[in-house]
Amino acid sequence: MRSPREFYRPLALGAPLPLDNIPVRPSRMIHFFDPSNAKMRDKVPAIAAQVDILLGNLEDAVAIDNKEAAREGFIDVARSNDFGDTQLWTRVNSLDSPWFLDDMLRIVGEVGERVDVIMLPKVQGDWDIFYADQLLAQLEAKAGLERPILLHCILETALGVANVDAIAQASPRIQGMSLGPADLAASRRMKTTRIGGGHPGYLVRNDPDEHNPEGPRATYQQDLWHYTMARMVDACVSVGALPFYGPFGAIDDPVGCEDQFRNAFLMGCVGAWSLHPSQISIAQRVFSPPVEEVLWARRVLEALPDGSGAIMVDGKMQDDASWKQCKVMVDLARLIAEQDADRKRAYGF
Ligand code: GLV
Ligand code: MG
Repeated sequence: MRSPREFYRPLALGAPLPLDNIPVRPSRMIHFFDPSNAKMRDKVPAIAAQVDILLGNLEDAVAIDNKEAAREGFIDVARSNDFGDTQLWTRVNSLDSPWFLDDMLRIVGEVGERVDVIMLPKVQGDWDIFYADQLLAQLEAKAGLERPILLHCILETALGVANVDAIAQASPRIQGMSLGPADLAASRRMKTTRIGGGHPGYLVRNDPDEHNPEGPRATYQQDLWHYTMARMVDACVSVGALPFYGPFGAIDDPVGCEDQFRNAFLMGCVGAWSLHPSQISIAQRVFSPPVEEVLWARRVLEALPDGSGAIMVDGKMQDDASWKQCKVMVDLARLIAEQDADRKRAYGF
């Protein structure tokens, strides 16, 4: 086991110091684009202005023949745009692929100072993080970077889920994780062909009515992702990292998308992926705290100024714990309000 004293020392001579806190910035959506596509590259300035995180995708959904063009396209986009407050991420190919090493060498070497986070797909265990962590430190040192590039893992294999705590604890470089329901379904041999969301077959059914045993019985669709999401949220938050829901593939079902995103928000996720421009506003709406919740939370904080003791507000008991819940809501609202004048006004800041 590594000495705790080593944890915040760079893994290569000359690499930047690891961060002891993950920067908390609005991260409501990670918007994916394919950098091999010239039309998408042209749209980057307009899209970057609308999203919290812009991610150049080099992995799945980029055809094999376009892998190198995607890498070149990403380097070009990173070099030739000013991203302002928007974070720039990339999803590299998986560690066992023929492209991973060049993705890392080229991107860190050529535009490392512009990239906030590298998303690692198909992470299986802490050994994957140890490797990527050390490699990144070597490349950062070589490129003379002053700020460490963080790592974001996709939780999308059965083994990865089994090892989720060890992955989260493997390095101070872990920025967060995303639930990847498509690869995870395949890895687990789940019998769904959808990318995220529910399934009408995954349900519970009322008992038969004893007076009418053949009569209709109500059914309730259940959430296929609940267990994994909960494990991911606990693994991330226990190390100060940020959990995200991943892709929702049914672009033609904005209502289903909103429900999936809201489940993630309520369970503690900070954002989700947007795969299509129409999902940006859904994520923006869902992952910004609701105005009425913020106004309520502000009343509780004002009524219990030092956060101790117990009082009633509109017939509801408030104490130290509910004060902390309200503080989570108000802190997030303040963060969003810094970049969103309309919400700032609505929240009353
Ligand atoms: C995302 O990469 C997924 O597989 O769902
Ligand atoms: Mg995947």
